Amino acid sequence: MATDFLSIDDVTDDELAWLLDTGNAYASQREGGPQPLQGRTVAMLFEKPSLRTKVSFDIAAYELGGHAVYLGADEVGLDKREPVEDVARVLERWASVIVARVMAHSTLGRFAANASVPVVNALSDVEHPCQAAADLLTIRQHKGRVEGLKVTYIGDANNCALSLGLGALALGADFAVASPDGYAFPDADAARLRARSNGGALMLTADPDEATDGADVLYTDVWTSMGQEAETAQRRAAFQGFQVNERLLSRANPGALVMHPMPVHYGEEMEQGMLEHPQSVAYTQAENRLHAQKAVLRLLVSGE
Ligand code: CP
Repeated sequence: MATDFLSIDDVTDDELAWLLDTGNAYASQREGGPQPLQGRTVAMLFEKPSLRTKVSFDIAAYELGGHAVYLGADEVGLDKREPVEDVARVLERWASVIVARVMAHSTLGRFAANASVPVVNALSDVEHPCQAAADLLTIRQHKGRVEGLKVTYIGDANNCALSLGLGALALGADFAVASPDGYAFPDADAARLRARSNGGALMLTADPDEATDGADVLYTDVWTSMGQEAETAQRRAAFQGFQVNERLLSRANPGALVMHPMPVHYGEEMEQGMLEHPQSVAYTQAENRLHAQKAVLRLLVSGE
């Protein structure tokens, strides 16, 4: 059973299916149900800004009967005011779950190694598993399944791409990534994607058209993530042609979903207006962060 949620790989195939079933049930009915966080506190520690993750975890804790405490980067000063290990050992005395958004993925491992309570990755430089859980829930809601679909990711092969790919392959989808030379998946990540496959195929290409042909889902994320701002000009040049727009969508299967985790850099990875496209489900992805994370918290706290 999963004790932490640092990677979408931390849950078994059965647990991932349970997360989607339970998230879908929460999407249908917000009120009622088990209260596994009754009288308990979730500590939320964020080294980077957030709208969706911060607010949805706060509401998730409340709707599961508990309470969330938010700690920004300046309040705690991880490894500046005190080491991560000490912060973990103190927070575990009060909180039942630690939710952390970190600069370096290794920080999550240090939290997990030093806290006896579950640790949840609220975004790191390597993975964004909570986003992937919501994305897979969204795909299943709109397509009725994930298995057998072709999920295509266009652009920077980043944390969202890796978590989405690992989850989609685990559920039996094909996963295609189109990214420019120099920004493709590292070999180790590609190997992890292949290893998680339950029959689906992995395609890594530098050609967005090739990746999009036959796609049921067309997904993109920003070319420049938080912390990479110094590379903005270089990335804008490298990612020209890797935009999700009407022309690219026309190559996908009819009714293909347009997906983005938000926030969007309009005019870069996504053409202005595509978020409001009839085939876009981006706002449902955002809503589903709440439902999926309620399922994650319940799994970790009550071990269902
Ligand atoms: N998608 C996502 O993680 O949004 P925030 O950065 O606003 O939390």
